[in-house]
Amino acid sequence: DDWEFKLDEELIDTHHLQSAAHSLKHSDVPVAFPTETVYGLGADATRSEAVKGIYKAKQRPVDNPLIVHISSLNQLRQLLRPSGQRGIANGATFDPIPDIYKPLIQKFWPGPLTILLPTPNDSRLAPEVTAGLKTFGARMPGSLLAMVLIKLAGVPLAAPSANASTKPSPTVAEHVKYDLDGRIDTILDGGPCDVGVESTVVDGLSTPPSILRPGGVSIEQLRQCVGWENVVIGYKDSSETGLAPKAPGMKYRHYSPKAQVVLYHANNPQPEWNKVIEEFGPRKSIGFINTKKWNLPKEKMATTAIGSDRGESQSNDAASSPVTSSESKVCVISLGRDTESIARGLFSALRDLDKRGAEMIFVEGIDEQEGATAAAVMNRLRKAAEVEIRD
Ligand code: TXA
Ligand code: MG
Repeated sequence: DDWEFKLDEELIDTHHLQSAAHSLKHSDVPVAFPTETVYGLGADATRSEAVKGIYKAKQRPVDNPLIVHISSLNQLRQLLRPSGQRGIANGATFDPIPDIYKPLIQKFWPGPLTILLPTPNDSRLAPEVTAGLKTFGARMPGSLLAMVLIKLAGVPLAAPSANASTKPSPTVAEHVKYDLDGRIDTILDGGPCDVGVESTVVDGLSTPPSILRPGGVSIEQLRQCVGWENVVIGYKDSSETGLAPKAPGMKYRHYSPKAQVVLYHANNPQPEWNKVIEEFGPRKSIGFINTKKWNLPKEKMATTAIGSDRGESQSNDAASSPVTSSESKVCVISLGRDTESIARGLFSALRDLDKRGAEMIFVEGIDEQEGATAAAVMNRLRKAAEVEIRD
């Protein structure tokens, strides 16, 4: 329900934390801070001007609501009670947290799970947080730095991911600086994020309960909780969906580097250089991302002359048009074979290739049936990709 802490005033980190908390309380410029999933861009969720500062810094569409980060269940209860009952009502022990969420909170908080809750009529939350919806998303982050920051600020923090709108979420402080330099004053650097993809978002207020965004908590894990046996997937991540997404954020272009991303589904053979050129034409700069099976070599492909030898498949007119003989710069990033490390490195890899000027990025997809993290990785890759190669 609540917890106490004591900071060592001798530590420089303490001073950074205190000054960040001071900004959150008194300024309308948001503060970037690490969580276990990705870096967040926080503001006092109860002050409109502060929350508007988030939308401004990110250039985020105003109809996309924010997640409220809390450091204790008591703090969450304050956001759920109508104002008349803000103290303890008649000594009664009515708990405003809906029962459906109790097993989830018990099992997954603090951690990468966001739950949708009803906004009371006279909510303390600034209206900009919910973008006019009757619900708000809340989570208790699993990062100690984030928890202490919320405690010090003494207010719930509205915080989306700290990227510029449409870019991949930041997983190290440098990503935040790259996107938001000049727009914000403070970034708390907690090193690389443990998880690397954003939280699972669930809606337990509708029947049956649903998952609005896949993340670190899997559908199987949710199904083991009382009341969640029939949880359904409420997100669509293939591009052909015509349904209005339930999480407003899911309708926007996302995780997009400047390059065109081509996603190969797991079990497709590793692309061959010649075929890539054949299919997509010569480019000045190409990136590849190896995950579980591909082993495109870093060195051998560092520079490859294109245009000379294109094999025999040039019989049709389009393919036989002259190809420039310029050098093509190729950059290969290997994320490791293990799903958790792929998730941790994914956004960094997309950003890295972008910085190197890649015009196309070919990514080895993974089997999303494998589990929560794999499903979250494939969901983010689909949103980044313009082309999908299925087997
Ligand atoms: O891991 C995370 O969740 C990170 C860290 C910083 O906590 N935050 C994050 O926030 O990813 P953001 O704003 O980038 O994504 C929030 C998602 C969006 O898709 C948004 O539409 C959805 O949650 N969402 C927020 N409030 C909602 C609501 N009331 N109803 C439906 N969807 C909501
Ligand atoms: Mg985001």
